[in-house]
Amino acid sequence: MTTKLLILGGTTEASALAQAVARAGFDAVFSYAGRVAKPKEQPLPTRVGGFGGVDGLATYLRDNSITHVIDATHPFAAQMSWNAYHACAQEGVALIALTRPAWQAQAGDDWHHVADIEGAVAALDGAEKRVLLALGKLNLPAFATQPQHHYILRLVDQPETPPAVPHHTVIVARGPFDVPGDRALMEQHGVEVVVCKNAGGIGAEAKLHAARVLNIPVIMIDRPELPPRPAVAASEEVLAWVNN
Ligand SMILES: NC(=O)c1ccc[n+]([C@@H]2O[C@H](COP(=O)([O-])OP(=O)(O)OC[C@H]3O[C@@H](n4cnc5c(N)ncnc54)[C@H](OP(=O)(O)O)[C@@H]3O)[C@@H](O)[C@H]2O)c1
Repeated sequence: MTTKLLILGGTTEASALAQAVARAGFDAVFSYAGRVAKPKEQPLPTRVGGFGGVDGLATYLRDNSITHVIDATHPFAAQMSWNAYHACAQEGVALIALTRPAWQAQAGDDWHHVADIEGAVAALDGAEKRVLLALGKLNLPAFATQPQHHYILRLVDQPETPPAVPHHTVIVARGPFDVPGDRALMEQHGVEVVVCKNAGGIGAEAKLHAARVLNIPVIMIDRPELPPRPAVAASEEVLAWVNN
């Protein structure tokens, strides 16, 4: 059977993998969920949009003769990861995750761990603050129950409808971000607390270094439960796995 890869993307690491896979000359397809208006162009044939759950993905794998799936989605894209796990098991397709190790607090960090978005919302109970919400647009409505804060919303696209939180500033920007830039952003907007997901990886960690330097507390949303698949941290390890 000819090797054909499906890369589930949407992360800086998935884009790096696409470069490596293209250079290596593999037959491969890159898949985006379609959440952002203009996704980064990839050096591989690209498809956009959901597959239609486990059954839809299983059909896609079969119809496209996929032999290997690389789950390089964001660690909080748990639904996609579980779907890939079940569909690959069903179709006998090899699966590996390209993951980013979770961030670990360092000396000087003031992290408050919460289990999920609801936990982050609850942790914001109290007096008005200026809050940097470094989360995707889909998570914003939950914060409407803490309307007293001024939210600085860093989003990939300008929202089409007004954000659910009454007091806000929208900053349209796409990572990777750097420490001087994130520090300047926090100082300029008087950020008093940062809310983020423990994404890991290099593309979004600058805000944590900036928060440490500025003594700003971080409400850190811990990772959801992900399926028990093999996982590697580097593109080269994925290529070695495919070659074996
Ligand atoms: N969650 C985050 O915080 C976050 C942050 C940065 C980037 N992203 C990226 O944004 C995308 C969506 O994340 P999410 O949290 O909404 O995922 P999710 O909740 O796990 O997935 C919801 C549904 O979106 C579709 N989907 C997700 N990733 C896909 C992909 N790469 N290709 C095709 N369909 C995909 C699937 O639809 P069907 O069931 O119809 O197949 C999936 O069931 C992912 O590609 C992820 O890497 C997510």
